[in-house]
Amino acid sequence: MPTFKDATSLQAFLNSQRTGNNTVGFVPTMGALHKGHLALVTSALSQNEIVVVSIFVNPTQFGNAGDLKNYPRTLSKDETLLKTLHNDIIVFAPNAEDLYNGNITSNSYNFGAIANEMEGKYRQGHFNGVGTVLELLFDIVKPDYAYFGEKDFQQLQIVRKLISLTKQPVTIVGCPIYRENSGLAMSSRNERLSKERREASAFIYKTLQKVKEDFKYKSARQLNEWVKSEFDKQEALELEYFEIANIDTLKTIKRKHKNNKYRAFIAVFVEDVRLIDNVSLNY
Ligand code: PAF
Repeated sequence: MPTFKDATSLQAFLNSQRTGNNTVGFVPTMGALHKGHLALVTSALSQNEIVVVSIFVNPTQFGNAGDLKNYPRTLSKDETLLKTLHNDIIVFAPNAEDLYNGNITSNSYNFGAIANEMEGKYRQGHFNGVGTVLELLFDIVKPDYAYFGEKDFQQLQIVRKLISLTKQPVTIVGCPIYRENSGLAMSSRNERLSKERREASAFIYKTLQKVKEDFKYKSARQLNEWVKSEFDKQEALELEYFEIANIDTLKTIKRKHKNNKYRAFIAVFVEDVRLIDNVSLNY
């Protein structure tokens, strides 16, 4: 399984592999791969002849230096995991100076109002960092399809917007959330939780499931109040936000409207580990 550190040799290799109608599927990641990532790679393998996985902890999308420093970096373990899926997966693991051509800063994108909600509100500059690294990576890899998990649902919408702004010829594929047995959404950050905290974090999805059940007959305001009161009782979990939003605008709703699709979104701190999750409510 080839691993490339620089863009030029990756591109030369990809050019030698691209023939006729074969397509390139791309899974951008920050490494510390888990079953959720492997599910994305499995989708890419089932739809493309060539699959590239990037492993790069992107500095420009972190607002918090501690979070960037503590982000797990496990390249050789990641390569071993990918090999269990297929021997020919191509890994791209650049260093930041090279990828950013010595200028590690974000572009400023006009993603519109969706960038100001939820993660955009709580993580200033985050989506400009995500947009910048993806534009660079798409330029290098030139994938036909790129795969993203719905756990980062807002990111998925931002990536679709990025493509409409940059006009890069890539089709974005959204993939369902992959969960641990307890229901906790898979995330590289889960590795930083103690056994007890990880068990306690299953409460996040349990709460979202109850919200989904009650969405038919309770108002958004009632559900907001209920979720806040439930988290007030949890010692180990600190609610950052809970929002019920329209899936297209990502705007918090005051009232439900027929024919609109809604999701519930949540961000929770478990000590210094920040977890996010979401569920569809009426579709
Ligand atoms: O979702 C992630 O892991 C990152 O935001 C991404 C898309 C790999 C960009 O760094």
